[in-house]
Amino acid sequence: MPCTVIVGAFWGDEGKGKIISYLALKDKLDFCVRTGSVNAAHTVWKDGKKFALHMVPAGFLYDKCRLLISAGANIHVGQFFKEMELTQVESSRVGIDQMASIIEEKHSIQDQQSAVNKGIGTTGWGVGPALEERVRRTAKLAKDIPELKPFLTDGIMEVNDGLDAGKKVLLEGTQGFMLSLFLSGDYPYVTGRDTGASAIASEAGVGPTRVDDVMIVYKSFITRVGGGPLPGEISKEEAIKRGWFETAAGTGRDRRSAPFDFDLAKKNAKINGATQAAMTKLDCLFPKCNAVRQFEDLPSEAKDFIREVEVRTGVPITLIGTGPDALDIIDRRT
Ligand code: IMP
Ligand code: MG
Repeated sequence: MPCTVIVGAFWGDEGKGKIISYLALKDKLDFCVRTGSVNAAHTVWKDGKKFALHMVPAGFLYDKCRLLISAGANIHVGQFFKEMELTQVESSRVGIDQMASIIEEKHSIQDQQSAVNKGIGTTGWGVGPALEERVRRTAKLAKDIPELKPFLTDGIMEVNDGLDAGKKVLLEGTQGFMLSLFLSGDYPYVTGRDTGASAIASEAGVGPTRVDDVMIVYKSFITRVGGGPLPGEISKEEAIKRGWFETAAGTGRDRRSAPFDFDLAKKNAKINGATQAAMTKLDCLFPKCNAVRQFEDLPSEAKDFIREVEVRTGVPITLIGTGPDALDIIDRRT
């Protein structure tokens, strides 16, 4: 804080939604700025109810947090209004940068009909085709959509003025670093944008010198949906046995899984300039950790794992997720 970037360490689905919702509540965030697009679902639990958010920022749980969708983002108008209804967020809390672009039905159709995209295993939402159109400079922008008029704002200035005034700002990265169009090395098995920390700040219109912290979010095991390499991948049967089997929050597809990769964790912390890390789902690796909220109360093998990750990545793990609720967290920041 005051300006923190949240970046996914691996192929997405690290549990960023949970970490962001915790930080919003605990740190009383003034702004939560969502980047990216509708392909990424951030899961947030509130009072036993699950929200899979594709558009509304995951900081919505804290009712004084201003929720912005960034200039670099890509708005799915139908999904946005669906989530406004679902979350019952007051409209006055939400701002859409007037320059955010629009993803349309035709983009989803194009995505789903493309043989190349089938091979990559895209989510089918049409983010790649929508971004292609933006690059061609023929895309619609938020300011061109009458229904969005009440939400339009200059999000870039709001967030920069907020930082000038010492407000607490969280820049909500989506997906994972290994899906970066430019930086991951998995091309073409990547998404249509750069998902790294610098790009998250850039999409929000925040210059690199204004960022105070980069929090990289690890999960205690690794998952990937869609095609492309996954080092150390285990079978679905084995994943079920270990309690690691997941299905995608957005598309319902099976997630592939693999054990935690220390070398990749270190490399990605370095490239993203991580100053802190979060580790989610520690209770999936060590069931006795479930709902534990003090580091001292963790079983020794869980403490050893956390310490090993810290030693091997060189990054302090300040937040540890031990269950689905936003408050199932060990907070070691103070
Ligand atoms: P696209 O982003 O829909 O074009 O999909 C490109 C690749 O990124 C595919 O392998 C998708 O499964 C993956 N992907 C995109 N968004 C997410 C996400 O939020 N979580 C996990 N994987 C994703
Ligand atoms: Mg997700």
